[in-house]
Amino acid sequence: MSSSNRSGPWHEVRRSSLHGNGVFARRFIPKGTYILEYEGRHLTAEEADAQEPTDPNDPFHTFFFAISNGMIIDGGQNGNESRFINHCCEPNCEGHENEYGDRVFIVALRDIAEGEELLYDYALTIDDTLTKTLRQQYACLCGVPSCRGTMLALPKPSKKQKKKAKLKKWIKKTIRKELRKALQSSQDN
Ligand SMILES: C[S@@+](CC[C@H](N)C(=O)[O-])C[C@H]1O[C@@H](n2cnc3c(N)ncnc32)[C@H](O)[C@@H]1O
Ligand SMILES: [Zn+2]
Repeated sequence: MSSSNRSGPWHEVRRSSLHGNGVFARRFIPKGTYILEYEGRHLTAEEADAQEPTDPNDPFHTFFFAISNGMIIDGGQNGNESRFINHCCEPNCEGHENEYGDRVFIVALRDIAEGEELLYDYALTIDDTLTKTLRQQYACLCGVPSCRGTMLALPKPSKKQKKKAKLKKWIKKTIRKELRKALQSSQDN
């Protein structure tokens, strides 16, 4: 680390292998650090819906950050470098709101090494029904093992869905076990 990196901003913007520009740790960032604020024009949901796409060649590109007071921060208008932070399904950062729920700060979820890309889970919410097409339009390329394939927030599974998934897992496991047993006994004979 050069001495100039020991002070000044925690972050810097450069090209990302994930998408376009990204934001990277300029120096070691300890867990819990408030790195920078997510700045931009505050829009109502109706104003946000009326916005033209930021990039006509990539109509699903977004600089929006929804906050709990119902407003949307548009990093594309009066925004700062936080608008270049990419999404990841296993993020090293997250947005923390202030006590009034009208400002958001990007905070380190763990220690972040110098040079690491800063990433948070966008968990984008859309009013429309969550179709396969919509998930693909907001496809995630983060590539982590637990990637959910989309930057959209997925609804939590219901109790019934969880039970069904558990049963499916048990059936698969039992079939595999029985097959192994059958194979073993055919080899023994
Ligand atoms: C807030 S911008 C992030 C900065 C962006 N890389 C840029 O250069 O403008 C959000 C957009 O970046 C892209 N993006 C960010 N993370 C992504 C990911 N994990 N997979 C695919 N696209 C991503 C999507 O187009 C998304 O709408
Ligand atoms: Zn992902």
